[in-house]
Amino acid sequence: MTTHIPDCPSDFLLFGAKGDLSMRKLFPALYHLHKEGLLDPATRITGVARVEESSEQFIASVKASVKQFVPENQFNEKTWGAFSERLHYLKVDFSKAKDFSVISDFVDHESRVMVNYLATPPAVYGDICKHLKAANALAESTRIILEKPIGHDLESSKVINDTVSQYFAEERIYRIDHYLGKETVQNLIALRFANNLFGAQWNQNFIDHVQITVAETVGIEGRWSYYDKVGQMRDMVQNHLLQLLCMVAMDPPSQLTADGIRDEKLKVLRALRPITQEKLAKNAVRGQYTAGAVRGTSCPGYLDEDGGKGGSNTETFVALRTKIDNWRWAGVPFYLRTGKRMPQKMSEIVIFYRNQPHYIFDPKQKAMVHNKLVIRLQPDEGIKLQVVTKEQSLDRGMALQSRALNLNFSDDDKDRRIPDAYERLLLEALKGNQSLFVRRDEIEASWTWCDKLMQAWDESHDEVKGYSAGTWGPIGSIALIERDGRSWHE
Ligand code: BG6
Repeated sequence: MTTHIPDCPSDFLLFGAKGDLSMRKLFPALYHLHKEGLLDPATRITGVARVEESSEQFIASVKASVKQFVPENQFNEKTWGAFSERLHYLKVDFSKAKDFSVISDFVDHESRVMVNYLATPPAVYGDICKHLKAANALAESTRIILEKPIGHDLESSKVINDTVSQYFAEERIYRIDHYLGKETVQNLIALRFANNLFGAQWNQNFIDHVQITVAETVGIEGRWSYYDKVGQMRDMVQNHLLQLLCMVAMDPPSQLTADGIRDEKLKVLRALRPITQEKLAKNAVRGQYTAGAVRGTSCPGYLDEDGGKGGSNTETFVALRTKIDNWRWAGVPFYLRTGKRMPQKMSEIVIFYRNQPHYIFDPKQKAMVHNKLVIRLQPDEGIKLQVVTKEQSLDRGMALQSRALNLNFSDDDKDRRIPDAYERLLLEALKGNQSLFVRRDEIEASWTWCDKLMQAWDESHDEVKGYSAGTWGPIGSIALIERDGRSWHE
């Protein structure tokens, strides 16, 4: 039997341990890993932050957030008690070199692999690496996990990567894109490469077009001043949407290794056709939400959110039409769409198959005869294949109907929890498996493509188009796909 437990204990250090991501996602994920027996018994989890507090106070704050963010039926005092014995706290001001000696005194390279998770703004990555090195806290085997955003554009991403690479070899750097940890995204690999049914037809001969939608009902959740410098293009497209696109479009790797997968993803990014200024009007739409209502609750426009200022041209919605210039995908449009304050939270990839070459049924039914494969990442993770069958009837001749073959993962075993993306990512980083993490050249290829598009927007003085909160984006995003005689899957 293969073991899923890392094969040696770790010293897991979480920098920025008091921050929102750590409290909301990372500690609950670690708790689940512990509960499932996936952490080595000797693994220690150490919060590192500048807040002055005792270990007891820190552990109490972690307990409060684990209780808040873990489903009630998953929390119990006995498990918590054992988990809390793994927890430690070190007070470190990331800008003060001398503070880092507590870390070198604490870590135990003899019997544990040191794994550092930087849940901090990238601006302090350099200081943390430099001071860890100067304090002699690093060993050859030490790993580092970096949160996004890795930069603001290609140049700034290079600066961050250059800095970190002075202290860590690429094989020790784990760049997070949490979408890669989602169950259904992982399942894409199995679906595509373990099923000849799909594998053989996954190309321009059979596929008409692909749609990728990542919609959220939330706005910018009190992060106005951060988000306004970033926008949806950098926040979601540069990372999550392009990674999804890579998983859909990549060629099969010859082996299921980290570099096998990442080499293939890189080729897709490099083959993505740039959206230049001349092609902007037909291929890219930016929007910004105005006041409206999401699921019956009224919400302010982007400019009126807490901290908001007038005159911002930052996009909260992006719709794109792009192509991949290679043999597999020649001529197949990929439509990408993502936005805040959409009518529902939903992420899905839809593969639309071409029609049969010759149509023999009632012409009135022609619109129905599209096979499509819907891969739903959230909510209700699952895969649905839309097929056409005959209606069961005596008197309706060859009346057709569109039916779904539905694989709903949450139905497989009602008691089985679908793990959060961070659980998988933390586990894989502890195991030393880089497959689910983004390599430097992928980040750079994706910034190169995004920079060109953002530059085109700047140069053409493109104004964001308003859309009411609770709708699917500006009208232009509908026109973007309808011009091709297609429509968004809803
Ligand atoms: C983050 C973005 O990377 O992903 C957020 O910074 C966004 O703005 C979030 O809300 C969405 O993640 P998920 O897993 O909820 O779809």
